[in-house]
Amino acid sequence: MTTTSIDPRLDLFAEIQRLKRQQRALVLAHYYQEPDIQDVADALGDSLDLARRARDARDVDVIVFCGVHFMAETAKILNPGKIVVVPDLEAGCSLAESCTGPALAEWRKRHPEHYVVSYINTTAAAKAESDIICTSSNAEQIVRAVPADRPILFAPDKNLGAWVAKKTGRAMDYWPGTCMVHVTFSERKVIELKAKHRGAKFIAHPECEPEVLRHADFIGSTKRLLEYVVQDPCRTFIVGTEEGILHTMRKAAPGKELIEAPTENHGGCKACSECPHMKRNTLEKVYLCLRDLRPRIELDEGLRRRALVPLERMLALS
Ligand code: 13P
Ligand code: SF4
Repeated sequence: MTTTSIDPRLDLFAEIQRLKRQQRALVLAHYYQEPDIQDVADALGDSLDLARRARDARDVDVIVFCGVHFMAETAKILNPGKIVVVPDLEAGCSLAESCTGPALAEWRKRHPEHYVVSYINTTAAAKAESDIICTSSNAEQIVRAVPADRPILFAPDKNLGAWVAKKTGRAMDYWPGTCMVHVTFSERKVIELKAKHRGAKFIAHPECEPEVLRHADFIGSTKRLLEYVVQDPCRTFIVGTEEGILHTMRKAAPGKELIEAPTENHGGCKACSECPHMKRNTLEKVYLCLRDLRPRIELDEGLRRRALVPLERMLALS
């Protein structure tokens, strides 16, 4: 079914509300989704919030996960009794793609003494090869809980790993993965923008490169960045993360000036701070997946159980 088969006269917002009731569905959306999707969601959140919401979903039959594949897969791992559908099955992630299950298993074989802390931005197969999962909200807390006598592999985001290593003082090996969006912010342009907007605070996600992060007044997960903008008395913020969050930030902090952090635009992209995977999802596709209850996330039960173990360890700690 393609989006061209949708009657253009349909009010998609109203139809989505009607279908939610009809299908007994819960719509979850990440802050990086386009504004219309954020507005129709029952719950918005960062990776950790959404994992918890999916796990705790009870009085529904269906979870519509508006994010990327690993997030919806995590929902299915945590709540296998629900039908989990996604607007676009091809919505991937450069981090998850950089670390396959077999590659991580091979690494572990060569380093059996290591404790593997994997970012939630991984496939179920990579999670199954991990000792514990973390998100950008709880990475520091999770790493602090790793037994002191075990060396750590942090996978697959080396920038998040380096930031956590600095905060915790724990030495680590890093998987060489990065987020294709967060590495595009330009140190030179951030310095110039800060000089132009004296008094503005630069806030950034820990997936950014260390040379960009060193200019940040505050570093945190998407949810922490949102809370910071609301609570901090500063009036102007330069925001170094995926641009989708600005929609919710503007609603939550209407009086504040929010400026997107500048990117290098290496590949000639028009909007490098837009995640092309997250933006595969559209309101039309949300409508279609609610109507047709597909595409679905399906998982082999043995793999699901193995991936559940490190996820449950994380949730017990945070
Ligand atoms: P958080 O939702 O944990 O901030 O992660 C950001 C991200 O890049 C998700 O893909
Ligand atoms: Fe992956 Fe980065 Fe997109 Fe998040 S923003 S889904 S980490 S590529």
